[in-house]
Amino acid sequence: MDKIHSLTGMLDLYDDGDSNNLSVKIFEVEERIKKIFINYKLSEIRTPALEDTNLFKRATGDTSDIVNKEIYSFNDRNEKSIALRPEGTASVIRAIIEKKLDQSPHKIWYMGPMWRYERPQKGRYRQFYQAGVEILGYEEGPPEFEMISLVCSIIDEFMLEGCCIKINHLGNKISKQAFCDALVKFLEPFKDDLDSKDCERLLKNPLRILDSKNEHTQSILEKAPSIKDFLEPESIELLERIKEQFSDICSIEIDYSLVRGLDYYSGFVFEAISSNLGAQDSFLGGGRYDNLCSKLGGKDLPSIGMAIGIERFASLIEEVTVKNKIISFVTVTSNLEPKTYKIAHQLRTINRDVVLDTHLDSASLKAKLRRANKNNADYAIIIGEEELSSNTAIIKPLKDELKDQQTVSIDELLSFYKAI
Ligand code: HAM
Repeated sequence: MDKIHSLTGMLDLYDDGDSNNLSVKIFEVEERIKKIFINYKLSEIRTPALEDTNLFKRATGDTSDIVNKEIYSFNDRNEKSIALRPEGTASVIRAIIEKKLDQSPHKIWYMGPMWRYERPQKGRYRQFYQAGVEILGYEEGPPEFEMISLVCSIIDEFMLEGCCIKINHLGNKISKQAFCDALVKFLEPFKDDLDSKDCERLLKNPLRILDSKNEHTQSILEKAPSIKDFLEPESIELLERIKEQFSDICSIEIDYSLVRGLDYYSGFVFEAISSNLGAQDSFLGGGRYDNLCSKLGGKDLPSIGMAIGIERFASLIEEVTVKNKIISFVTVTSNLEPKTYKIAHQLRTINRDVVLDTHLDSASLKAKLRRANKNNADYAIIIGEEELSSNTAIIKPLKDELKDQQTVSIDELLSFYKAI
């Protein structure tokens, strides 16, 4: 029979025990990032993977690539257009409005799969994972510092090298409009030199031209006006103060050409890139979006957020080191096995920090010990017929050849296990 394959651009993640495997790194990254989120007193939210397609159209804007060509949307059995979420922010704000929580501040985190119908390549998938943070209900200032502190903590936790956080400010309503007008005026004479995508951006969302991948457009933009000349002094000061505060922890650069691919951003924006990632070099991005909540039918809720691309981030980390002690529980009995299951159960109960690996087959002692070594076990606990009848067990150190194995009573075994 023909085999059924996974869909293009969608990965199966499986912990096969190889610490160099991307899946293993992804699981490790998720766990440690979660701890940092809790460390910042953020609360978890889980929203559905499927949403009304209009949510993303309204939130991310109809000039964004996400809505134009990347959205996974289809009609359900009721002919309603629904979409797999391409990002988390819109869903979080929808949920907060729906729960009538949009009058008060919130500090939120989430983690989960997102879907974008992109051309798959290294670091770009059709299903990928994001870890996101949204800080809702606070005006510009402290949340910007909190957000960059969080980004620095995450980069620092994994000791990532070759990273840079780029920051910019898109201005307030007036300065943003003045800059857009100046940009359009500058680009009008070059209209015929722009490709169709940039022409459309010129018409609908001129700021996004700064993000153009077209080299010719980028060469035209070299002489274009800079947003720096339109920003309020407070906005420039914010960028400079953030750079000053955190540059001894992480490399931070003010990049006045940084614009983000989603339409909801309204002020401070940022992205973290790594020179070790290749073409898809941005592993994290975010910014302020003060108008999104009201645009989705809620109250005015000044907000800022960010999301980490977990696959890209995980590909930057070195081999994962296992911190928990691993014990291999080796039984070599034939008919008395059930008793040993009880001992294994008891051991697991008294110390959940230790990993107890049981062998669920009747391989020989030699084969099981070989497996224990392969699985990186620190000790083997061996129970054979003799040990069972005398209520004892053998503790065999596997990583320290100078240490001898010893036979202990079950009570001593429990104490040893508890103290590891
Ligand atoms: P974004 O820049 O579209 O922002 O995505 C954030 C991160 O997700 C990117 O930096 C990248 O690492 C990762 N990413 C995006 N697309 C893919 C893909 N196809 N394959 C693998 N990784 C990908 C947002 O999504 C905003 N919601 C962030 C935000 C939260 N802004 C405010 N709050």
